[in-house]
Order: sequence, then C-alpha cells, then structure tokens
Amino acid sequence: MNQIFDAAVASIHEKTTLVPEIGIILGSGLGGLAGRIEDPVYIPYACVPGMKCSTAPGHEGRFVVGMLAGKAVICMQGRLHFYEGHAMSDIVFPVRLMKKLGVKTLVVTNACGAVNTDFSIGDLMVIEDHINMMGANPLTGPNLNEFGPRFCDMTFAYTPNLRELALDEAKKQGVELRRGVYLGYMGPSYETPAEIRAFRALGADTVGMSTVPEVIAASHCGMDVLAISLITNMAAGIQKVKLSEQEVIDTAAARAEVLQNLVEGILPRI
Ligand code: HPA
Repeated sequence: MNQIFDAAVASIHEKTTLVPEIGIILGSGLGGLAGRIEDPVYIPYACVPGMKCSTAPGHEGRFVVGMLAGKAVICMQGRLHFYEGHAMSDIVFPVRLMKKLGVKTLVVTNACGAVNTDFSIGDLMVIEDHINMMGANPLTGPNLNEFGPRFCDMTFAYTPNLRELALDEAKKQGVELRRGVYLGYMGPSYETPAEIRAFRALGADTVGMSTVPEVIAASHCGMDVLAISLITNMAAGIQKVKLSEQEVIDTAAARAEVLQNLVEGILPRI
C-alpha cells in the first residue's frame, strides 16, 4: 500500500516542488476555480500511479497545483464517484495522496438537490454534518494505520471553526450561506419522491452523490474539512417536475462564480 502512495507522491514531485497546504475538490460544473490558480501545474489523473480516472460529465480529471489567494493548493478538477463503479478506496485515494503531500485542510464543493423546502435553487450551503446512505464506507477492510485509527470519530468531521469562518466570509461578501445536513446517496439514478420524504424525516437538508467518502477519509487522516454545496435543483417530488441533468449543469454554471469568490475569500483566512 505504501509503495503505491510513494509512487503517486513521486509523480507529483516530478512536476512541482510546491508543498500544498490546502486541498480543494471541485464538484460538478464547479471546476472553474482551478482557472484562478497562479502558475498552474496540470497533472492528469492518468499520470498518477494508483489514481483512477473520472468519467462523470463536467469533471476534467486532473490535479491543478499552484497558488490561490496566497495559499499553496492542490485542486482536483473533477472527482471520482461511487456510481461510476469505483471502489471506495479508489475514490478516497486522492485525499490520502493529498495528506502525503502535506495538505492540512480539505475544501470540498459539490452540486446537490435541496431536500429542505425552505431552500431555493442557486443557494449555497455550508455542510454541518452528513448522513451516509451510500451503503458503503471507505474505511472498510484492513485499517491503514499510517493514516488513522480503526474506529474514526466523526463528531467534528466538518471543522466547526471553518464553518464559522465560511459564514463570516459569506456575510462580508453579502452572500446568503445556508447551513445544513448533506445526505450522500449512491446514485446514479436520482432519488424517488418517497426517498426524499424519508430523507427529510431523517434530518437531511440536501442530497447528493459525492463528498461523504472524501470527508470520511479526510477525517480519518486528521485533516480539517470545509464543505460547501451549491443547490442546483429541488430534490425529486418537491416541484412535481422531472429532474434533469441539464438543470444541474445550468445552475452550477450560473452560480459557480459566487461559490468561487466565497472559497477564494475564505482561503487566506484559513
Ligand atoms: N440528487 C442527487 N444528486 C444530485 C442532485 C439531486 O437532486 N442534484 C445534484 N446532484
């Protein structure tokens, strides 16, 4: 296991000497933030031993390393999803690689549906906690002791100070930032209306097909985590219309800049 991480680290070090402090995972249609990185070094996932490639639409499939808002960052332009058929261990491989490269804080973004009917399309939400309904956990199997303990505490998985920081920066920027619970669903079908009603009863505010595995792995290896969702649609059954991938893409495109500005404002304060 160590050898594959060593080879992956070496493949990054061949391309850049920068030691990233912050890792950023960009969600569906939100890859534009990587375009703001100064002196970017692009490293396609295919060039990194142990990395699987992303097949999801709107996901570029490369690391971008460089400076953003004065911080050394490694950005994932495109992530891996469980619904693509990837093993959980492959989905979290880049998070563990980031840890090996020196990353202390993980910033995660995603596109999601609103389960909470008080929320609106285009809203941003800082994730306070999650519910894992993916039916799998990236920490199953032999524990990787070099990263963390067998039984990983999740009480403060979404770092409270970073959540407060995000809320404060949003206020400064005049952006409304919701807070709530994200429910991770395996996909790739969207949820049924009955599932959405059930998830609401369970305490979910939003639903999406990512984030949960990466945050569990980040917690396991002791990283701080900030996660911000962009609500691209009301979840199934709320509006009595079919969900469409195009709506998700269009909303992400329309609101990406607001989310990017927020993350860029937060970074120097981490
Ligand atoms: N459900 C699951 N994943 C999503 C949704 C949704 O409604 N919108 C964007 N990603």
